Amino acid sequence: MSVINVATSARQDFTALLEGELHLSIDKLEGQAPLLSRMVRFHLGWIDAAGDATDTDTREAVRGKRIRPQLAFLSCAAATGEPALAAPLAAAIELLHNFTLIHDDIQDRSPNRRHRATVWRIWGDAQAINAGDVLFATAQCALLRTDTSRVPAETLLHLIDEFNQATISIVRGQVLDLEFERQATVTTDEYLTMIGGKTAAIMRYAAWAGAIVGGATESTASRLGDLGEALGIGFQIRDDILGIWGACEATGKDQADDIRRRKKSLPILMLLESAAGEQAERLTTLYDMDEIDESGVAEVLRLLDDYDIQTRATARVAHYHDVAENALRTSTGSFSEASASDLETMIRRLDTRGA
Ligand code: IPE
Ligand code: IPE
Ligand code: MG
Ligand code: MG
Repeated sequence: MSVINVATSARQDFTALLEGELHLSIDKLEGQAPLLSRMVRFHLGWIDAAGDATDTDTREAVRGKRIRPQLAFLSCAAATGEPALAAPLAAAIELLHNFTLIHDDIQDRSPNRRHRATVWRIWGDAQAINAGDVLFATAQCALLRTDTSRVPAETLLHLIDEFNQATISIVRGQVLDLEFERQATVTTDEYLTMIGGKTAAIMRYAAWAGAIVGGATESTASRLGDLGEALGIGFQIRDDILGIWGACEATGKDQADDIRRRKKSLPILMLLESAAGEQAERLTTLYDMDEIDESGVAEVLRLLDDYDIQTRATARVAHYHDVAENALRTSTGSFSEASASDLETMIRRLDTRGA
């Protein structure tokens, strides 16, 4: 099962709150164009491709880890806000994330996600784009359900503006990610800019916005935003590691998919920096090909091993998670102690996640 256990009693409430809001958003899609609702409910893990409801175990295994809404809820709680206030925000963030995943799978030509076929592989690219689009719009509607008798309307406008800014950052990151596939050299700084957009922007937003909804000051929320951003950078580097060495039974994605797609993920950049002579030339030749075949993938894996890249990249994840934890520590005092400790637990559990 792919759920990250944050081990707090409140977590159960988060799940119920999130599910409730997701249903409020998605159930409205029933009616005209039943395929739209089917694609979305399939992607969220509620039904199978034939339209039949999934059983509880399957649903938990295929709905995703829900890290981003958890971050929003925990930030809200850390700011001593009532978690229910953050439920529309949490749903909006999870819907936005799922929109980006559906489009990302088209862009990356990924055949599988969350242990099942991707939406584009079942219904085609064109309809999958529609499924992604509708999730983006439902995300906006979810955010607008924030209780304005408790969160001032002006604050909500700010939340919506930043939500859209985060989305622009995600799309910028996605554009760079695809450009880098074709670009001969990519620096670590360019890579960090790219993942800062595609992955860390939504994590920063989740942590910042959760705190704002919870009533935090802008400066406290901004420190939680820093936590979210560092967590997002570490999260993507871990995703890069899993994109090469992750077991598909755990990740629900195809093993070594990033190599096959010639992604300039951090382990590959580290290898390009470290390799010399014939090994460096061979690597460049392989990454010049349109797609790397199975023997090429095996070669790249051997080179990565030769330079101990997995261990070195894992250390980078821990480094960014330390940065995230420090953002929390320098903020202690303004936070609820229990929620701060839940956030810390969450960060550390993500260090070596396998899914
Ligand atoms: C996948 O995110 C996309 C990345 C930014 C790495 P998650 O690993 O959080 O995906 P789910 O929601 O748990 O499937
Ligand atoms: C995902 O990036 C980022 C977004 C979806 C915005 P990746 O392409 O690296 O993530 P996975 O490995 O497919 O989940
Ligand atoms: Mg992808
Ligand atoms: Mg991608």
